[in-house]
Amino acid sequence: MNRRQFLTATSVVGLGAIGLYTFGGSSSMRAADLEGMPRLKMPPLLDARADRSPELVAQKGNTVFVGNAANPTFGFNQPYLGPTLVLDKGDFNPVIRNELPTPVSVHWHGLLVPGEHDGGPHIPVNRGEEWSPEITIDQPPATVWYHTHIHERTAQDVHKGLAGIMHLTDGRDDDRGLPNRYGVDDLTLVLQDRRIDERGFVSYRLSMPDLMHGFTGNTMLVNGQYGTVGAVPGGIVRLRLINGSNARIYSLFFEDNRAFQLIATDAGFLEKPAMMSKLPLSPGERAEILVDFSDGKPAMLMSGGDQNQGPGGMMGRMRGFVDQFVDRDFAILPFAVDEGMEARITKFPDELDGADITLREEDSIRTRSFSLDMGMMGMMGGGGFAINGEPFDMSRVNLEVALGSTETWRISSSMLSHPFHIHGAVFKVLSENGRRPQSHNQGLKDTVLVQDQIDLLVRFDKPASREKPFMYHCHILEHEDAGMMGQFSVI
Ligand code: C2O
Ligand code: CU
Ligand code: CU
Repeated sequence: MNRRQFLTATSVVGLGAIGLYTFGGSSSMRAADLEGMPRLKMPPLLDARADRSPELVAQKGNTVFVGNAANPTFGFNQPYLGPTLVLDKGDFNPVIRNELPTPVSVHWHGLLVPGEHDGGPHIPVNRGEEWSPEITIDQPPATVWYHTHIHERTAQDVHKGLAGIMHLTDGRDDDRGLPNRYGVDDLTLVLQDRRIDERGFVSYRLSMPDLMHGFTGNTMLVNGQYGTVGAVPGGIVRLRLINGSNARIYSLFFEDNRAFQLIATDAGFLEKPAMMSKLPLSPGERAEILVDFSDGKPAMLMSGGDQNQGPGGMMGRMRGFVDQFVDRDFAILPFAVDEGMEARITKFPDELDGADITLREEDSIRTRSFSLDMGMMGMMGGGGFAINGEPFDMSRVNLEVALGSTETWRISSSMLSHPFHIHGAVFKVLSENGRRPQSHNQGLKDTVLVQDQIDLLVRFDKPASREKPFMYHCHILEHEDAGMMGQFSVI
C-alpha cells in the first residue's frame, strides 16, 4: 500500500465546525483589523536562576479558550500549561508535586540529564506525591520543554495541558545581538491545535483515523490562547516556536512571504543564521527565528497543511473550512507593531557562536537501524504501532548504548511521516533520503521529522540504567502511546 492509498483509506471525517481563526485574503489584513483584539500573553516567567528549587504542581483547572465555555484542563502551577522556566548552567532541583488523581511524570525534553532524573514512564509521581530530581545543567543555551510522559496517558494528559517551556541561557544574548526581553522582543509561542465545537468545548475523543494519523484539531491555540495578536516593537523580534501539538506538522511562513532568520534548532544555536521563508516544525521540535518588523506593517504567521492529514481522501473533497484547515494554509497568529515598544535590536546578526557540542562522523562506533512501523494491523485499528516490529513494553529494554559513545542511527518510516525523538542525547542529521539535510535540519537536534529515511549521528553523554532507561519514540503522541516507542540504557 502506498502513501496515497493509505491516506485515502483512513482519512478523517467529521470535525466540528467553528469559525476558523483566519483573516480573509492576503491583502485584507490591516493594522486596524487587529485593534481591539486581545494581546497574546506569555506563560508566566519563573526564573530558576534565582530560585533553583522551584515547585511545579500538577493541578486541575478550568480554561476558557473560545467564547465562554469553561473546559476542564490540567497545568503546572496554573490551570493550563506551565510557567516558562529560565535556567543557566548549574544546579536545578525542582520539586514536582502531583495534585491530580492520576499519575504524572515530568520529562525534560531536550535537557541532557541522567535517566534517573528525567521523568519518563518509569518515574511516575502519584497523587499527593512529590519528586525532586537533582539536575546539573551543563549544555549550551537552547529552548527546551517539559511535559508529562506516563505510558498510554501521554497524549491525553499533554492535550489537557501538562507541558511547559524552558529557556536555557548563558546570559550572553546581548553580546550575540539577539533580542532577549521576554514577552517584548523575545516571544515564546507554544503552538497547539485543538478540536473545539461551536460552543467552545474542546474534545479529545480518538476515532480510528485519529489514532492512525494522530489527533489534529480545527482551531489554533498559541500559549493556550485563541484569537489574540502578538504585539511587537518595530525592529528585530525573536520567536521561540514550540510545536506542542499532539500530532500536527506545521509548515510555517508569513502571509506576505517575508524572509526570516533561523538562529536555533532543538539543541541550540546554529553556527550561522539561515535565511528562509518556510519552516517545517513537527511535534516536539523547537526553532528560534528572528523576524524583522521594522517596516511597521502587521504580519500574519501562517502554516501550510499537514502532510500526514491529506491530500486526497474524503477530506480533500469536503467543502467549507474543514478542508481549508486540513489541506490548505491557515492562520496561526497575527503580529502588530506597537510604536510604544522600544525596538532595541534593528539588524540581523551575521554570525552566531553555535552550540559547543561536537559530533564527528568518524567517531561513530556502529550503525543501528530503526523502522517506524504502523503495520496492516495498525491500519485496521488493531494496534501494530511498533519500532522494528516491537511494540513498546515497559519491561523490555530494547538496546544498550555505551556511555560517551557516538552512533549512527538510521530511521525509516513508511506511509506517514513520523517525528523521531531521543531522550538524553543530542544528534546531528547526516542525511535525509541520501541527500544533504534540509536547511532547518542542519543544527543540533533531539527530534526530527522522518520522511522515508534519515541518518542521524547521535551522541550519548548521560547515563541511564536498565531500571530508568531513556526512550526513543515517535512524537505523534497517539503513536507513542500506541507502542511506537523503545527504550535504551546508557552504561
Ligand atoms: Cu517530548 Cu519522550 O518526549
Ligand atoms: Cu523528550
Ligand atoms: Cu508516528
